Amino acid sequence: MKLIIAYVKPERFKEVKKELYKAEVFRMSVSKSRGCGEQKGFIEILRATTQEVNLLPKIRIELAVNDDFVEKTIDAIIRGARTETMGDGKIFVLPLEDCIRIRTGERGSDAIGGVSIYLSDKKRKEFEARKK
Ligand SMILES: Nc1ncnc2c1ncn2[C@@H]1O[C@H](COP(=O)(O)OP(=O)(O)OP(=O)(O)O)[C@@H](O)[C@H]1O
Ligand SMILES: [Mg+2]
Repeated sequence: MKLIIAYVKPERFKEVKKELYKAEVFRMSVSKSRGCGEQKGFIEILRATTQEVNLLPKIRIELAVNDDFVEKTIDAIIRGARTETMGDGKIFVLPLEDCIRIRTGERGSDAIGGVSIYLSDKKRKEFEARKK
């Protein structure tokens, strides 16, 4: 399991969401964020000339995914967010120790959500029964 944290341009977020949906990634947390990268936030064109950084608005997206969804998620974010200009954003991939669905007490891949090759037999059967 991985926790994917992405920072994207606010004006690209709608497109990112669309691409994630197409990749069947629906579970996410989103918040407003401010930050800067290499350009220290200075118009994302020129290098900073002062001693301060300028924090620009970004959207932070957090997604906990099973291992078979990591690359699909990254690709979808890139498809939605890339404009080939500075400040397009960054994606961090962190190992994820555990996930617990509070309602049921399910843990790990079963609790992440969605159909994954990593589901337990019990959870997989539950999904199949739902389809019928
Ligand atoms: N090393 C970092 N640690 C934490 N957050 C970061 C880091 N780098 C970038 N970010 C976050 O990602 C946002 C977008 O970064 P940005 O795309 O400008 O990265 P960059 O390395 O400057 O690449 P580019 O040269 O394409 O602009 C930043 O505003 C900040 O919120
Ligand atoms: Mg930058």
